[in-house]
Amino acid sequence: MQKVVVLRWGHRLRDKRLTTHVALTARALGASELVLADVRDGKIKEKIDGVSETWGGHFLFEMGVPWKQVVAKWRNKGGIVVHLTAYGENIQSSDVLQRVKATGKDVLVIVGSRKVPSEFFSKRVSDFNVAIGSQPHSECSGLAVFLDRFFEGEELSGEFKNSKMKIFPQKHGKKMVKSDDSESPK
Ligand SMILES: C[S@@+](CC[C@H](N)C(=O)[O-])C[C@H]1O[C@@H](n2cnc3c(N)ncnc32)[C@H](O)[C@@H]1O
Repeated sequence: MQKVVVLRWGHRLRDKRLTTHVALTARALGASELVLADVRDGKIKEKIDGVSETWGGHFLFEMGVPWKQVVAKWRNKGGIVVHLTAYGENIQSSDVLQRVKATGKDVLVIVGSRKVPSEFFSKRVSDFNVAIGSQPHSECSGLAVFLDRFFEGEELSGEFKNSKMKIFPQKHGKKMVKSDDSESPK
């Protein structure tokens, strides 16, 4: 199966929650790793690692690596790069997703924040510029739709191994199950 890693570009220290939500989205919807480009933010790493410890899985959070280095390394290893942008090929009205999948290669998904460097749109950086509809919205919603379509919804019912807690789906109310199987209603 093709692996997906997310490159988060343009983290703003005054806007920590959005990067946190991008990372939580990446983890919950099937990506293997998030790389926070160029800057370090230990609080976000702590939060995401804490979520993984409680809720399981093997999600990695890297930070502080220059984006050019991440892209160059990824391409050298034979992976492809998908830049999510409202200006790209529309995921619904074009065959871009089929072409991404047909490569069979691991995918580095770049999401921005403020105006991204123009190089992101070029062939040197991105093999595909993919639009989640041709209206501007958010890195979080764009990433969520891309991952869900890429993994065809399978990621939503997947097991997160080695969790301390599991959510036990309910018609009404909230129930969590500890990994030792003792139930803890909440
Ligand atoms: C809030 S937008 C800002 C975009 C910025 N104004 C620009 O022109 O590049 C932040 C990020 O959300 C993602 N995004 C927003 N709308 C999108 C769309 N329709 N399709 C794909 N990605 C989108 C892109 O990754 C973008 O870099």
